[in-house]
Amino acid sequence: MTTQPLRNLPADLDPHGLPKHVAVIMDGNGRWATRQGLPRIAGHRRGARVLKDLLRCCKDWGVGALTAYAFSTENWRRPTEEVDFLMVLFERLLRKELSEMHREGVRIRFLGDLSALHSSLRREIDRSMAETAGNSAIEFNVAINYGSRSEITRACREVAEKIHQGALSPDAITEDLLARHLYTTGSCDPDLLIRTSGEQRLSNFLLWQLAYTEMYFTDALWPEFDRAEFYKALLAFQGRNRRFGAVPEAVKEVLTA
Ligand code: FPP
Repeated sequence: MTTQPLRNLPADLDPHGLPKHVAVIMDGNGRWATRQGLPRIAGHRRGARVLKDLLRCCKDWGVGALTAYAFSTENWRRPTEEVDFLMVLFERLLRKELSEMHREGVRIRFLGDLSALHSSLRREIDRSMAETAGNSAIEFNVAINYGSRSEITRACREVAEKIHQGALSPDAITEDLLARHLYTTGSCDPDLLIRTSGEQRLSNFLLWQLAYTEMYFTDALWPEFDRAEFYKALLAFQGRNRRFGAVPEAVKEVLTA
């Protein structure tokens, strides 16, 4: 990540103690819309705007990477109209927002089994990843048709295939090697996971990558998750004592390793 001057970081946040990578489970769009007397899709539309604001906020405040769970492998079970709406929304957003994201130095990447997506969405996905590949102001990962167990299974299959071909010895399998076969290869693990809407579970999101991540759960629904809510999450994060299984004196070595 290139070093940028921080803009409007709240004075009581320590600029040196910010998470490098934040992951979000954007929950509560449907409930928010229902409470407003709107169709569920209005919640997703609003949720997309909130995600865009959060990405800008992360960039302004010096968070290097944001990963969002936009559509899980289980979300296909939703009503067809809602699934179709989400797919069209992703495609439309990419078309509309790509040039601005590119201008702002966002490097966008998609995590998940993209082969199941409609070809027109895949085209936009491929284009956005290719166009922004050289950017370094902030990394933005969007998980679509993503499931962590299937990601880990796929990684194991790739490794097994290499062994079968004689290109790899079983002794060479390490945590690092397996991590290099995950969709997230090249990204650091999230330091902070935020889930909105009062639910407190991982729902098959980044099970490997969240091993030492701090979790923050809030009752705010995703469409309500604004800068003030993010600030509260960061304040809570900065109050945590991260030890990574080590004693306090050794933590610095873990973090700089
Ligand atoms: C969960 O709320 C939300 C989703 C499954 C969709 C999230 C997608 C967006 C916010 C659009 C993001 C756009 C891009 C390009 C990444 P829910 O529907 O489960 O809400 P509920 O629990 O209240 O029913």
